[in-house]
Amino acid sequence: MKRIYMDHAATTPVDKEVVDAMLPYFTNFYGNASSLHSFGEEAHYALDESRHNVADVLNAEREEIIFTGGGTESDNIAIKGVAFENKDKRNTKGPHIITSAIEHPAVLEPCKHLEKQGFKVKYVSVDKYGMVKIDELEQSISKDTFLISIMYANNEIGTIEPIEEIGRIASENNIVFHTDAVQAVGKLPIDINKLNVDLLSLSAHKIYGPKGVGALFIKKDVRIVPLVHGGGHERGLRSSTENIPGIVGFGKACELAQKRMVKDTQCIKSLRDRLVREALGIEESYLNGHPEKRLVNNAHFYFAAIEGESLILRLSDKGIAASTGSACSSKKLQPSHVLLAIGLKPEHAHGSLRLSLGRENTIEDIIYVADVLPEVVKYLRKMSPLWKG
Ligand SMILES: Cc1ncc(COP(=O)(O)O)c(C=O)c1O
Repeated sequence: MKRIYMDHAATTPVDKEVVDAMLPYFTNFYGNASSLHSFGEEAHYALDESRHNVADVLNAEREEIIFTGGGTESDNIAIKGVAFENKDKRNTKGPHIITSAIEHPAVLEPCKHLEKQGFKVKYVSVDKYGMVKIDELEQSISKDTFLISIMYANNEIGTIEPIEEIGRIASENNIVFHTDAVQAVGKLPIDINKLNVDLLSLSAHKIYGPKGVGALFIKKDVRIVPLVHGGGHERGLRSSTENIPGIVGFGKACELAQKRMVKDTQCIKSLRDRLVREALGIEESYLNGHPEKRLVNNAHFYFAAIEGESLILRLSDKGIAASTGSACSSKKLQPSHVLLAIGLKPEHAHGSLRLSLGRENTIEDIIYVADVLPEVVKYLRKMSPLWKG
């Protein structure tokens, strides 16, 4: 049976060139980057080169990048690190941290944890497209606010947030600004110098790199308290012997993303647009997220009277790998917090489908999905007590 992968927002296949770059660092160049001998030097050189490649994607300096164990860890280091740096402000009245209602759990959960420790967090709402309400964000700022964390692009509905504007607001108010750019890197050109961003999270496995590797951009003058103490690796901000093969893979993935971004995004966007047109041809189907300000590879729908999980399983039977939303929450039965935040009723939020495209998808894949999807929706609706027909 044909197998089509359309869940690139969950993870991507590791590029062959990335695998080739990584392999020698398991077997030949296996030194510890902190060792003084030649094995250590080789590893240290690779670490430095990869840091350069990651920094380059953001137009940042290599000294501003620390490697982590993934996007979740980067978000935690950024948010808790800034909060602990400002712990003396804990008993003040206004919100200390401003974030949005549609962040990934990697941001929401650290914020909830900090609330239990006495910090105050404001979760700014979004409009029907998932755009953060800037007025509400501005009104929420108080003299006690020390951190704003708003994602660059949403992992479920693909909406791209006005990061430049939020960065300007944060900077004018002397507030540290963090953005989770895990879904944006490799799909949008990012120039850190134009953005007033102080901290930015990245993850390798969303850009055809290995899982379990990430990075955090930390602007030179920004101070954070480390969460992991030990041998003082990564400027003392993330102790633990560096995962050199993973980091080399991440560096290579960044280099490839830079090289291929224009061509890849053009191609993926045209496939995605065709897919959206085909899917919206199905009766009572709707596109979630912003019509234009969305990631080029994201298509997110709601189909009336359909249960999302059944749709995913049925599509999987036909060889199509899709998702209802984020991979992290798709095994929970609660409706997605993102879909509820954009105003979908819980029963509608349950009927959602995310198709996220990648480099290896072809027009034949789109044609196949366009063929199968209406059949599957029709089949499921026939069994649905909610369907009118
Ligand atoms: C927006 C966003 N932030 C953070 C993460 C977590 O990244 P990782 O899986 O590398 O921990 C993800 C992964 O789905 C994501 O989409």
